[in-house]
Amino acid sequence: MKTSLRTLLAASTLLLSPSVSLAQESSGIVETPEQQKERMAWWKEAKFGMFIHWGAYSKAGGEWNGETDHHEWLQFTAKIPLKEYTEFAKTFDPKNFDPDAWVTTAKNTGMKYMIITSKHHDGIAMYDSKVSDHNIMKLAGLEKDPIRQLAEACRKQGLKFGVYYSLGRDWQDPDVPTGKYKPGWRSNLIDFPDEKGKVFNRYFKRKAMPQVRELLTNYGPIDVMWFDTPELISPAESKEMLEMIRSIQPDCIVNQRVGNDLGDYGTPEQTIPPEASSLPWETCMTLNGHWAWNKADEKWKPAGSLIRNLVDIASKGGNYLLNVGPTGDGIIPEPSVERLAAIGDWLEINGESIYNCGPTPFGAELGSFSKTEKDKKGKPKFITTKEWRATTQPGKLYIHVLTWPSDPLEIPAVDQKIARAYLLADSEQSSLEIAQTDKGVSITLPDQAPNPNASVICLEFTK
Ligand code: GLC
Repeated sequence: MKTSLRTLLAASTLLLSPSVSLAQESSGIVETPEQQKERMAWWKEAKFGMFIHWGAYSKAGGEWNGETDHHEWLQFTAKIPLKEYTEFAKTFDPKNFDPDAWVTTAKNTGMKYMIITSKHHDGIAMYDSKVSDHNIMKLAGLEKDPIRQLAEACRKQGLKFGVYYSLGRDWQDPDVPTGKYKPGWRSNLIDFPDEKGKVFNRYFKRKAMPQVRELLTNYGPIDVMWFDTPELISPAESKEMLEMIRSIQPDCIVNQRVGNDLGDYGTPEQTIPPEASSLPWETCMTLNGHWAWNKADEKWKPAGSLIRNLVDIASKGGNYLLNVGPTGDGIIPEPSVERLAAIGDWLEINGESIYNCGPTPFGAELGSFSKTEKDKKGKPKFITTKEWRATTQPGKLYIHVLTWPSDPLEIPAVDQKIARAYLLADSEQSSLEIAQTDKGVSITLPDQAPNPNASVICLEFTK
């Protein structure tokens, strides 16, 4: 097992840190690969989730003293002293927050889970934390706990629920050193300038561990603990965190940002790995250029490229965690809602080619490494091909046509005999003409693509 996993990892170009089960074995958190697979079965099927960045910073919409490029790092990037930021947080007023509406939006988009910021780098818990008064309920005098409301709304509407927790950065606690190579690079040096005197373990014991315990104890099932920024957490601390999570909620899935190669899955950020992997991974991505609400950012990604991203990711065996940044008063911005609705419409017709699907049985259609061009790291550059993608279900092969050809579409040979082929967009399921040989399959398509972004052909094998 060990050798084959290692080989696979060595061959993989994914932005994953090494394997989960290997690291967990060596750290004493024992779980067989089969047990892990079982625990993650729903997540592998789900493919698509909603990420939410929402906090006191959302109120500013990215603007502070005339500058408009701030975001969830507002306290840090605008160099706001803790006292002033705390006063600002008191003005947070989510008067239009409707947790059921958020969950309905996610559901109509075809998303199967939701991950919300329970504490970002500003250190403000977005829930009723007894561990720290630096929590939004106390600061802003909220009557209802947003995390509880969302957890309940998710359960009611059948979505899995998880929380983001900034592990190695916290600008309220005096003991959070950052930066392995550049000490202090993401620390609050305005209020706590003595970087050398900071002891991570004091913060870990005083705030991070007890807050994660609160989250896992008081909110029903937390299906995913989505950590960010492990920064200077030690292997022993990552292990302690993971063991605590396992002891409270053994089914909880934990991302690898718990640090030190522990956790269940890798989290490439704003990027899709070039090749497929059978190891679990999830690309998280923004809808424009910011995670938190930024009112000046109008660079919204077109719905078509978001749909193609989802297809690309599913064909490579990954999940897509797509982010929204609601406004301070609790509204998911209209440009986000429009794009999500378009993805939802596409999934309504083509969802069977995404959910619970296996990755491409081919691979060459994804692209190839250039013999001449190099990437930023000096390695051969991967040239992505955007003609089509593939996913599988037992007895079926789906081809997502990204570039509609004028000639019949040619795909590589498949072992099984194809019984029939049709477009998912065709409610009549009229058979497409196919020619199958041991060299490949040729599929004759109508002149017009049923969908300009990705049209899906279903090839059914004979039983
Ligand atoms: C980036 C951002 C951070 C955000 C995270 C999500 O690292 O700096 O604020 O929460 O992405 O993965």
